[in-house]
Formats: sequence, structure tokens, C-alpha cells
Amino acid sequence: MNFHRDRGFAHPRPSEITPRGAYENRRDWLRRVGVAAAGTGLGAWALREVRAASVPAGAALAGSRSSVSGALTMERPTSREDATTYNNFYEFGTDKADPAQRARSLRTQPWALSVEGEVKRPRTFDLDALQRLAAIEERVYRLRCVEGWSMVIPWLGWSLSHLIKAAEPTGNAKFVQFVTLADAAQMPGLRSRVLDWPYVEALRMDEAMHPLAMLVFGMYGEVLPPQNGAPLRLAVPWKYGFKSAKSIVRIRFLAQQPTTSWEKAAPSEYGFYSNVNPHVDHPRWSQASERRIGEDGLFAKKRPTLMFNGYEAQVGTLYAGMDLKKFF
Ligand code: MTE
Repeated sequence: MNFHRDRGFAHPRPSEITPRGAYENRRDWLRRVGVAAAGTGLGAWALREVRAASVPAGAALAGSRSSVSGALTMERPTSREDATTYNNFYEFGTDKADPAQRARSLRTQPWALSVEGEVKRPRTFDLDALQRLAAIEERVYRLRCVEGWSMVIPWLGWSLSHLIKAAEPTGNAKFVQFVTLADAAQMPGLRSRVLDWPYVEALRMDEAMHPLAMLVFGMYGEVLPPQNGAPLRLAVPWKYGFKSAKSIVRIRFLAQQPTTSWEKAAPSEYGFYSNVNPHVDHPRWSQASERRIGEDGLFAKKRPTLMFNGYEAQVGTLYAGMDLKKFF
């Protein structure tokens, strides 16, 4: 196998990708990003207590340690197999099996993330510099898709607030927009007009600063597989999954609320906020309950959907006084 060298780190060419070579070596990556105790045979999520202790004091927002740890779920994670083969990533096709098949050769190194707009320190990060901004933590979050299914996923990353603070937003910055990769040469789904590419999402500034909003680089103790949004994506666990944009290339700070891809595609179906809410149905799907992926057997019961996907104690105050039917 021929490797080209990038800052002394070996990466295979996209054409040479093998199941293992598609990602950096698990132990190397975890060691490099500073996650302790990697490489045991245990599921990495079992080690989160160890890691939590290694997060530097003050790494999170004031008062946020308790709101993050109080939100971590002990529910059994969805199998890695399910989480990496049942995906929504329309740039690779609209079938759940498409991303795992077609995203294999997504080129994730080198990668540039541009941070721009209403900030005092606009900057372009490469992946190494970006990952060094904060200590990587493992957090097990529920993921609820607007289509009525859910998973439980152990993510690796850190609070998006670390990046926001490093960018020093100006007083005009009220929204944060996430623009994702749209490369027709690599993404066959771009031939379809199902969305107006690139896929764009956004959060209100206080939502983006909430410690639960996570910038993710890995899952299940490994770097993100392409189909899950390598090399960086969001995990915003109290919102429907489509708010968690994958393969982000640009983060833009804005004074005005931008229109997101899904709002543009179907404004009556998808709102800007898209908080998980069992009392506000989607026109085509009841949101009162959900199917947990992996519990699909004959006798599997649907689970009741929880307000804000179970994170109401942490995020409810962000929406105090708002009519959540109107601002859906
Ligand atoms: N990001 C991009 N760029 N393109 C997409 O099609 N789909 C969204 C979200 N992020 C999507 C995306 C939807 S609908 C969901 S439910 C989640 O990614 C799915 O994430 P997963 O496949 O890792 O479970």
C-alpha cells in the first residue's frame, strides 16, 4: 500500500481505502487527541468516568459540568453496526444504506474548517489544530430523528462553545450557521435536487453556546466513519437529528436568522428550531413515540418520545416564554 505523508502522519489515498485503513488507527488517534485509557477491549463508553476526570477544570462553561454530566444517559448504546449502516446523509443518496456504501472514499484529510462572519478572529483550522482546542470527551447521547426512530450513540468531541469562544464573536453575532461539504466529485447524491446544496443548518447563539451542543470527531471510540459525517459534525441532542450537520466545512456567525436547507425545502414541515417535541406532530409522522433502532423485533414496543428528547432539565430555559408550536 502506498501512503502519502501529511504532517508526518500516514494516510491512505482514497483509492486505497480498506475497512480499517479508512480511518486512522484507533489507538493512535485516541492517544493523539488525548483521550486516556484507549485501546482496551471494552466499549469505550464504559470508560467515560475515567475520561470525565481527565477533562481540565474550567474546560466547560461555568456551571456546565453538572448540566452535561446530568444529561449523560446510561441507556444501552445502539450497536455500532446499526449506527454506521442506517444513516441519513443525502449527499450520498436518500436510502438508509446508501451512505455506508457510497461514502467510503470521502476524502477527510486534509480538511479545512473556515470560521468566519461576525467574529473578531476569523480563521481556518486544519483538523489537528481544531481538535487541540479542547480535551476530547466521550458523551453518550440519544439521537432522535424526525422520521420517528432513535438511537443512543457514544460520541467523542467537545462542547461547540470552545470553538465559539476561540472565535470571539462580535456583539452582532446572533446565529451560528453550519455549511457542509458539497463536492459533486465525491458525493453522488448531489445529482438529485432533493435539497438545495450545500446542506446548511443553524442554531441561535445561546443554543450553540449550550454545553450539550457538541462538535464531534469520533464515535464508539474511533474517528467518525464517513457515513456518520467525518471528519466533523454536530450532535445537538435535544433537537431532531437533521439539525446535527455532517462533514462541516464552514461555521459562519450571523446577525440575522438564516434559512436552513430543510426549511427551504419544506417550510411547512421543518422549522428553524426543530426541538424534539412529542406534542407537535410532523405533517407525515406523529412525534409522540419513537422506534429505537435495534429493538425492531416482533414484540418491540415503541418508546414514548420525551420533551427535548429527555434534555428538558438542561435546555428548557433556552425557550422560556416561547410558543413551541409556533416556533417549531
Ligand atoms: N448532514 C448532512 N450534511 N446531510 C444530511 O443528509 N442528515 C441529517 C443529519 N445530518 C444529514 C446531515 C439527519 S436527517 C439525521 S437523522 C442525522 O444526520 C443522521 O445522523 P447519523 O446517520 O449519524 O445517525
